[in-house]
Amino acid sequence: MKTLNVNLGQRSYPIYIGPNLIGEPEFYDRHIHSSQVMVVTNQTVAPLYLGRVLANLAGRQIAQVILTDGESYKTMASAMQIFDELLSRKFSRNATLIALGGGVIGDLAGFSAACYQRGIPFMQIPTTLLAQVDSSVGGKTAVNHPLGKNMIGAFYQPQCVLADTSLLNTLPDRELSAGLAEVIKYGLIRDAQFFSWLEDNIEALLMRDAEALAHAIERSCANKAEVVAADERETGERATLNLGHTFGHAIETGMGYGVFLHGEAVAIGMCQAADLSRRLGWLNDDDVSRIEHILQRCRLPTTPPTNLDADRFLELMAVDKKNVDGKLRLILLEEIGRATLPVSVDVDTLRSTLETGSRK
Ligand code: NAD
Ligand code: GLY
Repeated sequence: MKTLNVNLGQRSYPIYIGPNLIGEPEFYDRHIHSSQVMVVTNQTVAPLYLGRVLANLAGRQIAQVILTDGESYKTMASAMQIFDELLSRKFSRNATLIALGGGVIGDLAGFSAACYQRGIPFMQIPTTLLAQVDSSVGGKTAVNHPLGKNMIGAFYQPQCVLADTSLLNTLPDRELSAGLAEVIKYGLIRDAQFFSWLEDNIEALLMRDAEALAHAIERSCANKAEVVAADERETGERATLNLGHTFGHAIETGMGYGVFLHGEAVAIGMCQAADLSRRLGWLNDDDVSRIEHILQRCRLPTTPPTNLDADRFLELMAVDKKNVDGKLRLILLEEIGRATLPVSVDVDTLRSTLETGSRK
């Protein structure tokens, strides 16, 4: 097992990475300091792993909320379901909430923990690759609004992250690939050596080679932990973690939540960001091809859906948390391994990217 730390002073916490961790009572005993515990999960994950988590919580007052699976349930209505259960069970301020699931459950349960009685402790048990490398780390929590993804939320850090790599064995291939998009993102924004390693090891990752996956998760979390420790509230460097996300969120919102997986939308968005970076003279053709190629090897989409035209993209991209005074700002690449901070881009150049997708 590997332990990394997210260093945030009093809000610091460990990320445990390794196989078969959810069956180890010591993690729960170390990080849960109350007798009231609620597990939030969904209908897909519950039959697979809920029993193994509950087995470690014997003797405590347990509540559980099992939500319908899907991005379209990352809503205020689902958060209300959690609040209803917490209140009807008379859970108090020191109760602990456990998020057992992918990024949807982690974001929603984290947001609910941040709000309930102005904040109760919570623990992340991420069960997808995407959640293990990204969403469970760093304290961004949110629900979606019909007009924009993740628009209602809070920064709220967990007590710990328990990234049990054995849980990935049951993950569908498409979800594994979606998680790899965020892994590749770390290489692109700040770790050229890791990007090269990924180019050499992508087949092993797709075959779920345990050692390769553990390395990829560890490098990803180490990169994320450094960025979050330096800029918890996204006043600077943290925005680079959003490479491809402004385009990607527009795709997710525009196509309807759940049509494209988050990682798939981000993969397309990273290609659009790469195309724009080339138009601005930062990347060359070879760089853009390397980016498209590694994503294609992961069986991820690299061109935008044809029914989102440039005008619709621009309309959707106008709702983005990086925008300032109504002006669109994007994360782009100066080279592979180095992202820009948010930059304003001339609208005609952006339009050229949106009209041609990532094609030359
Ligand atoms: P998800 O939570 O929808 O999980 C994907 C699918 O896999 C679901 O059907 C789920 O039930 C299933 N699943 C989960 N674990 C499984 C397992 N071990 N075996 C079999 N099936 C399993 O999607 P995701 O990709 O994990 O997360 C996407 C969400 O994360 C989006 O809402 C996105 O906005 C959010 N996100 C948040 C952050 C952040 O910093 N907070 C970062 C990136 C993404
Ligand atoms: N996923 C972007 C962030 O955590 O900042």
